[in-house]
Amino acid sequence: MKHLLSAQDLDRATAIRVLDTAGQMAATQSREIKKLPTLRGRTVVNLFFEDSTRTRISFETAAKRLSADVINFSAKGSSVSKGESLKDTAQTLQAMGADAVVIRHHASGAPHMLAHSGWTDGAVVNAGDGTHQHPTQALLDAYTIRRHLVGDGGRADVTGRDLDGLRVVIVGDVLHSRVARSNVQLLHTLGAQVTLVAPPTLVPVGVEAWPAQVSYDLDAVLADEQPDAVMMLRVQRERMSTAGGGFFPSPVEYSRGYGLDGRRLRALADHAIVMHPGPMNRGLEISAEAADSPRAVIVEQVANGVAVRMAVLYMLLAGEQTTNVKVEAA
Ligand code: CP
Repeated sequence: MKHLLSAQDLDRATAIRVLDTAGQMAATQSREIKKLPTLRGRTVVNLFFEDSTRTRISFETAAKRLSADVINFSAKGSSVSKGESLKDTAQTLQAMGADAVVIRHHASGAPHMLAHSGWTDGAVVNAGDGTHQHPTQALLDAYTIRRHLVGDGGRADVTGRDLDGLRVVIVGDVLHSRVARSNVQLLHTLGAQVTLVAPPTLVPVGVEAWPAQVSYDLDAVLADEQPDAVMMLRVQRERMSTAGGGFFPSPVEYSRGYGLDGRRLRALADHAIVMHPGPMNRGLEISAEAADSPRAVIVEQVANGVAVRMAVLYMLLAGEQTTNVKVEAA
């Protein structure tokens, strides 16, 4: 693996290796070995052209815990506001010796452009591009599902280590969601059955080709499928253009039809978990009662993001053939 641009880059064996490595990384953290020497002398650049809280901070934390030097670049306050191009920005960072570039960009495809353009020699990690992909979010979501629902802590009838047979329902603004695209691909690769639930106006063209069922009726899906995990998506109002013809149900209609409220929460199976990639629109796609309930794993998803991103950086920069993390304090 030279770059991580899409969940499609991850075949089942590679995805499992990332999740296993993340487990080893998490174990080092729980043993209070906060810093590993693995990436000492390497430089990770966080190149963020779009706002982020969780992804940017967790990549920075992950790189630092592996002893890498970290350069944080935010388009706001940089020469991008003077019109500097992605190419010139990337070449400037390359001149500073970037071994890996973690990029978030509002344009779908920008990380692919960077990886295949020759503007950087470093490994490129997609931290979210437009409505396209967010592969490390899908990995941390799979890791979280695995921790809760597979193995000792999981359902008795799921015997494997991976997600075979688990039922995951992804609800909401699928049209604008790179999280949904990445999750559908990765969850399918790992053997889960995925159902997408959304209002008809927020379902992308071509969804029939995705490895997922599609429904417009959340209550029917929750009753019929008894999902193991329910993943609520953020309504991305900043990507919606009423002039473009997209009809957005009013907030009240949306919450009534597609929001996870107390009534729907109580309809879930006892073991089911509630997920959200964040940031949440409380009161729109998820009620405070659901977001703060004991079955919500939303804060844990954020914590797991650090271990997963440590694993990704480690495999890209220290060699993916390495399967055992050398546990030694820096
Ligand atoms: N889930 C996610 O990508 O959150 P941020 O936008 O805060 O990074």
